[in-house]
Amino acid sequence: MAKNRIKYICSNCGHEELRWMGKCPSCESWNTFSEELIEEKKSSKKKNIGEGSISKLDFESQQIERRIKTNIEEFDRVLGGGLMPGSVVLIGGDPGIGKSTLVMQAASRIESPVLYVTGEESANQINLRAKRLKVQSQQISVMTETDLDLIINAIENHSPEVVIVDSIQTTYRPDLDNAAGTITQIRECTAELMQRAKKKHCAIIIIGHVTKDGAIAGPKVLEHIVDTVLQFEGERSHSYRILRAQKNRFGSTNEIGIFEMHEDGLREVKNASEIFLSEREKEITGSVVTSSMEGSRPILLEVQALVTPSSYGNPQRVATGFDYRRLSILLAVLEKRANLRLSAQNVFLNIAGGIRIDEPAVDLAVCCAIASNYSDKYADNNTVVIGEVGLGGEVRSVGNIEKRIQEASKLGFKKIIIPNNNIKSVNGKYQIEIVPVENILSALNRVLN
Ligand code: TYD
Ligand code: MG
Repeated sequence: MAKNRIKYICSNCGHEELRWMGKCPSCESWNTFSEELIEEKKSSKKKNIGEGSISKLDFESQQIERRIKTNIEEFDRVLGGGLMPGSVVLIGGDPGIGKSTLVMQAASRIESPVLYVTGEESANQINLRAKRLKVQSQQISVMTETDLDLIINAIENHSPEVVIVDSIQTTYRPDLDNAAGTITQIRECTAELMQRAKKKHCAIIIIGHVTKDGAIAGPKVLEHIVDTVLQFEGERSHSYRILRAQKNRFGSTNEIGIFEMHEDGLREVKNASEIFLSEREKEITGSVVTSSMEGSRPILLEVQALVTPSSYGNPQRVATGFDYRRLSILLAVLEKRANLRLSAQNVFLNIAGGIRIDEPAVDLAVCCAIASNYSDKYADNNTVVIGEVGLGGEVRSVGNIEKRIQEASKLGFKKIIIPNNNIKSVNGKYQIEIVPVENILSALNRVLN
């Protein structure tokens, strides 16, 4: 037997090296290299090369796009209308976030045969979860298996329309020497499942854990192999969960699905704005309502800021649910263009409800919340604030202005502050008073009282 040699693979990006390195030269992440065996190459002698398969573009079949509906509206929308037969969807997320719950609920509503393969839990545990979720479907077969060859056999023999593999970290190919959960195994198993999905024309959902320190190979390594990558995220301490598309060969990557975890499983959240604003305390300074587009939907959210004098030389800046660097820029703009002396203040910023936003349209609300708490003035609690803030303190236009105005109006807000440049694209008639502003100073004058 030839001597096994060792290589090192970055669990973040899949980069390979022959020696261990502290920092990955490709993706620059630290401490992500893990040791793996180099698989021996099979004989490269080629014999009897066949034709390969070539066919003409078929316009007929391109028109009929049959999707397998999960019948969970939020899930289907993120997928781009349902599962595409022949495709592989990867759902990544922290352990315990609710991935198995989500796929079990989806399995129970899919109207075609589903094979649920689990290497994580026993059949008994699966049954208990199904009972808790009140699953009635007769279409689900459960298989507790980690050996990929047996899983493939089951797919061949039972021809399910949907296969769920929970999780890819526990699945292994017996012909490889590497242990289950190593990057080689994960990558090879996924590639094999991908081929099988195309051949059998079934949809495969793969679940993958991600850990913050990248100790287990994250779905990052798999992103370019699979068709769709969904991220299931949320704060463990909050009951909201967000399903976000990171890559989708068959749909948009802008869509998100919002769920709430209950005792009896995940429930879809349709009126997201009402929920995110439900705990709002109206009579406090530092709280401003804004509108963020999540996919094609506007969601109203509360931005909270707390500004306190710093007793040390180095003030703290903490942002939850918002980009830290963006916060630093906005603080500098407030300091320079609105004359707020923030350099000696601790600033804490929070997007209520455990949601994360990275849309510049919330800049102005962040500035107003900080200014409100700093100057101890109330921000009008019937006002929604939107606008991107430039380095000159100017308020820049944002997209989807009408949708945002409609949502604010629908929820009974009285006033909405919008960028001046957006006013010409507002055509509809609304109950809500629309106030255009040009710069951050005039916005602060309108919002704070
Ligand atoms: P699970 O789906 O097992 O997470 P994952 O597969 O991502 O590791 O769900 C984990 C958590 O969800 C667990 O702490 C219990 C909770 N949970 C509920 O609150 N309600 C439920 O109906 C179910 C099934 C789970
Ligand atoms: Mg699980």
